Amino acid sequence: MKDRAIIPRLLQRPERSFFLFGPRGTGKSTWLQQVLPDTFRLDFLDASLFLELSRDPHRLEALIGRRPAGAWIVLDEVQKVPALLDEVHRLMELYRWRFALCGSSARKLRRGGANLLAGRALTLSMESFSAAELGAAFDLDRAVDWGLLPFVHNEPDAAADILAAYVNTYLKEELQAEGLIRNVPPFVRFLAVAGQINGQIVNAQNIAREAAVARSTVDTYFAILTDTLLGHRLPAWRPGLKVREAAQPKFYWFDPGVARAAAGLLRDPADRLWQGYALETLIYHELRVYNEVSRKHRLISYYRTPAGVEIDFIIETAKRRPGSDPRVVAIEVKRAERWDRAWEKPMQALAASTGIKVDRMIGVYCGSRAYRFGEVQVWPVAEFVKALYAGEVF
Ligand SMILES: Nc1ncnc2c1ncn2[C@@H]1O[C@H](COP(=O)(O)OP(=O)(O)OP(=O)(O)O)[C@@H](O)[C@H]1O
Ligand SMILES: [Mg+2]
Repeated sequence: MKDRAIIPRLLQRPERSFFLFGPRGTGKSTWLQQVLPDTFRLDFLDASLFLELSRDPHRLEALIGRRPAGAWIVLDEVQKVPALLDEVHRLMELYRWRFALCGSSARKLRRGGANLLAGRALTLSMESFSAAELGAAFDLDRAVDWGLLPFVHNEPDAAADILAAYVNTYLKEELQAEGLIRNVPPFVRFLAVAGQINGQIVNAQNIAREAAVARSTVDTYFAILTDTLLGHRLPAWRPGLKVREAAQPKFYWFDPGVARAAAGLLRDPADRLWQGYALETLIYHELRVYNEVSRKHRLISYYRTPAGVEIDFIIETAKRRPGSDPRVVAIEVKRAERWDRAWEKPMQALAASTGIKVDRMIGVYCGSRAYRFGEVQVWPVAEFVKALYAGEVF
């Protein structure tokens, strides 16, 4: 690695054992190095180590050697050896060692039938850089166009090449090497379509047709993207439990740059429509990171009003209980330099409806000034991010 300053991450190291998952290149290994320096560490990218422990998981104990109770052990790329988890479980119980288990996804671990340590370890996830982590180095236009993966941020001039390589080697070859996809060409066609629908409602039928793959395969592919944390399904919010059929979820990539690379749009200038979805992708990313680091884990969804108008994000700020009204924060995101008050209408309509308590209405846009229009708070992106991490949104 080049000699470059390490940007501190918001994620805090827990006191007990944990899994750390996240897409490739989000900075998991770098973070582990920071929060657990000088810790005994095994990396299963090392082929000989991988082979040795796949054959004989019991050798893990001998490799670790004698260590006091409470000692930390870092196992990186643990998804490569799912069989090891039973051994980790045993050693945790026997010696009270603490494990930091890092990997690109839980999918293979779960698939391998391995127990995810039956609740003995927390599960954390790492994402691209947050605007809050970058502070003054955060550049909104660049983030909308190229995303916030650490190596893209570190080498902005090479963003297009880095993202192209990311999709080629990681999305195609590596998901294949991990045994997650068997047949590459249909998956590649699917990726292009999934990239293009970033931020939109998933219509599996249409996607199957456009990518020329079976409908059931589309479902499997989406499950791979969400299990590997490359993408997230944003559910449609249901105000009441009795409401008629809910709308379909939307699909967002974890990072707008990766979405653009998957869509094959790296060499075309990003148009306004694309940028609108890209900005939503960024805001959703910040909401997830905040949800994770604050450990609030609130339900995030979007809302389609009965009139067919959408609100970008609805966050439930209290657990639903029978007999009590749902409490939510509503957020509307606009890729525009000027705030148009007409954009507040869907949120106002929601706030006026009975049986729902809207705690906050927030507009996020790309201008430079903050406004307070009655109950609606309008923030430029950077100010919204600041308020979010200060706990002023939810
Ligand atoms: N906190 C940081 N500050 C600056 N650069 C970083 C930071 N974290 C990661 N990077 C850069 O991003 C690159 C990828 O980071 P890292 O290898 O830690 O990611 P990873 O999530 O472990 O990826 P993989 O899944 O491929 O193992 C690093 O080589 C480094 O250049
Ligand atoms: Mg790593």
